[in-house]
Order: sequence, then C-alpha cells, then structure tokens
Amino acid sequence: MTEHQNPRQVRLGIDAALGAGAIDEVRWYAENSRLLETAYLSSADARGQSGLNGDAANWERRRKVNVEAIDRDGSFLDIGCANGLLMETIVIWATERGHDLEASGLVISPKLAALARTRLPARTDRIFVGNAIALTPPPASTSSAPNWSTSRRPAAAT
Ligand SMILES: C[S@@+](CC[C@H](N)C(=O)[O-])C[C@H]1O[C@@H](n2cnc3c(N)ncnc32)[C@H](O)[C@@H]1O
Repeated sequence: MTEHQNPRQVRLGIDAALGAGAIDEVRWYAENSRLLETAYLSSADARGQSGLNGDAANWERRRKVNVEAIDRDGSFLDIGCANGLLMETIVIWATERGHDLEASGLVISPKLAALARTRLPARTDRIFVGNAIALTPPPASTSSAPNWSTSRRPAAAT
C-alpha cells in the first residue's frame, strides 16, 4: 500500500482478489496483516500502534472491560497482540483486583511482534508470531505460562 491509497479500498481489493481466486488464503492473511501493520506502525503513540486511537481515558474505557472476566490468578493470551499494550495494561488492571497474570501475546505480523518485544523486554519469550486461525492450544492442565504454538498454514505474514 502506498501513502496515497485508501486502506478501505485496499482491503476491498484484497477481499475481491480472494473471492475471484486470484490469491489464496495465505496471501490474503499476509496482505491484510501488511495493511494493519502499515497503519499501526505509522502511529506515534502506543494506543494507535494497538489499533485504538484516542487518549488514555478512551483506552481504559474500551479495554478495561477485559479484566472483568478475570476472577483468579493465571495465564492470559492476547490473540492479536499488536504492540503488546493490552498485555501490559491487563496485568496492571488484574493486579489492582488482586490477581497475578502471566501475559502472552500472539500476532500474525513479525514487525508488530518485534515492536511488542521492544516495548516489553521482560516478555520477549512470551510474544509469538503466528496466525490465530492455526492456533493449537496447550492442554488445559499446562502450567500458567504455556507455550502457544501455531501450525504452519495459513502462515504468519512475512
Ligand atoms: C485491533 S488490534 C488488537 C490489539 C490488542 N489485542 C487490543 O485488543 O488492544 C488487532 C491485532 O490482531 C492481529 N491479527 C489480525 N488477524 C490475526 C490472525 N489471524 N492471527 C494473529 N493475529 C492477527 C493484527 O496484526 C493486530 O495486531
């Protein structure tokens, strides 16, 4: 995508290409991932890099609801973690409620995963690149910091 292209039009073009059989699903995921990646990485602030523009109050209003579902210590996997901001803030919000969370993230974009690892250096080994559609959850009995893995296809974006 160039700076002159409208993201919505690009998105419609990608969908049309899939529908017409001009590209396969792997390419569709890769093109969509690039589209989001370009938009997120063009933002100077952490919320925009996570796909939610606006101020800190807006972030809290739109994201803090996730912590309402947490009623114990444990692991939290953010599927589609972008720059890792939700991983970071959900741990803080859970701590406020007396719960200890081990946060992990999975994201299809290697560039966003790299940004998340830079932002959260203590979490680098808990940030995975892969396509959620191919996610293989670990057994329920696994410890609180499971190793999430994805099968090879559809592939993560390159
Ligand atoms: C709107 S952001 C959400 C960021 C964060 N989870 C939050 O709620 O604030 C969506 C993220 O999902 C990722 N994503 C989209 N499709 C995906 C897929 N199939 N597998 C893994 N990540 C995906 C995008 O790269 C992007 O980082």
